[in-house]
Amino acid sequence: MISTFTRITLSFLLFTVVYAEQHTVRFENHCGSGTPTLIQGANTLSTGQDYTSNGTFSSAIAYLQTGACGFNGENCSLVEMTLGNSHCVGCGSSVDISLIPPHAFNVETSFSFIDGCDGSGATCATKDCKTAFFKFDDNQVQVACQTDNVGLLITFCGSKASSSTQVSAASTAKHVSTAVNSRTPSSTTNAASISHSASSALVTSTPTPPKCNRKHRRSVSDSRRRHHARTGHGGLF
Ligand SMILES: *[C@@H]1O[C@H](CO)[C@@H](O)[C@H](O)[C@H]1NC(C)=O
Ligand SMILES: *[C@@H]1O[C@H](CO)[C@@H](O)[C@H](O)[C@H]1NC(C)=O
Repeated sequence: MISTFTRITLSFLLFTVVYAEQHTVRFENHCGSGTPTLIQGANTLSTGQDYTSNGTFSSAIAYLQTGACGFNGENCSLVEMTLGNSHCVGCGSSVDISLIPPHAFNVETSFSFIDGCDGSGATCATKDCKTAFFKFDDNQVQVACQTDNVGLLITFCGSKASSSTQVSAASTAKHVSTAVNSRTPSSTTNAASISHSASSALVTSTPTPPKCNRKHRRSVSDSRRRHHARTGHGGLF
């Protein structure tokens, strides 16, 4: 006999398990060598295996360690990601590829949302690809997804990401610059990537309800792009 109390408890647990926010990052490496690496702050969370976060997964980076990459992906193509549920319109997940120095192209790098927004993503196959950040206001290369619990597939040397669907979201979320401080304090060379990727944290940490409008836009041209806020993104072809 299962008591009512037990049943209620079980239902609650089931509810919690089913509805807890989580995001999975998966790697596919078709390069034949190198080690997929997922870093958040000072922690290496994956060297190829799936990683699933409990809750929002903010300001993480990934790259293929081909031997020449620094801990924070210096000298290598960098995927920057924040995966989070949409607690407000325009909030949610945002991912991009960065080649802003000290990052530099090393291998073809792609990402694609999974478990939601499938097929939306980007591929940077060459050092002059149009789908990566080269400077901080290249916000159009960001790809967002507003689906809860989305995951991310990161592929090296073989694109899984089809041309991105325009999942555009322009929000007025403020750049939470303090998030920058949460990144690896030990590295001085990655200041650019730190502030760059840390800005993605803003989408989930904005205290005031952002007045997000989700008009489809190809670029963010307002002043906020100076702060490269994670707001705009557009077509990647
Ligand atoms: C998430 O929670 C599950 C279940 O409690 C646990 O097994 C897993 O290790 C957690 N993952 C992380 C990244 O903390
Ligand atoms: C990046 O490459 C340059 C030139 O090969 C090298 O001097 C530098 O140490 C590398 N940086 C890191 C962080 O590995």
